[in-house]
Amino acid sequence: MPEVNVNGHAYAVHGAVGTTLAEALRDELSLTGTKVACGEGHCGACTVLVDGIPTLSCITLVHAVDGAKVTTIEGLRDHPMVYSFVRADALQCGFCTPGQIISAVALVDSKAAPSTEEIRHAMAGNLCRCGAYPKIEEAIRTWQD
Ligand code: FES
Ligand code: FES
Repeated sequence: MPEVNVNGHAYAVHGAVGTTLAEALRDELSLTGTKVACGEGHCGACTVLVDGIPTLSCITLVHAVDGAKVTTIEGLRDHPMVYSFVRADALQCGFCTPGQIISAVALVDSKAAPSTEEIRHAMAGNLCRCGAYPKIEEAIRTWQD
């Protein structure tokens, strides 16, 4: 039975072998802020941090993160990046937003003031069907304001 630290709380996850991290988070721990769109590793909606690294939870088995520290969007509710997304109006439907914020936080954790190129590179795996990219970039550029 994998043990995972999620947002500072230790959980023993009961999921059967083959359970994805996204399924464990959403169905077992009721942390539904993590979204699943493609379910195949293509869109980034399900991104969470595993030991600080952006990770696609829809294609990561929960047994593979045994002992790891996982951060979901619920664990970032007081992060300035969340407020920056709101301030910049960096969403439309909002379905991609948790994954966008997770990737953005990982980026600014490694470099507080990334260039536009660096933002585009780091965020390339997070798709937004609503096309909110200019506002998402603005939110990341201005998160410290
Ligand atoms: S839902 Fe995981 S990458 Fe699309
Ligand atoms: S805000 Fe709708 S998919 Fe990004």
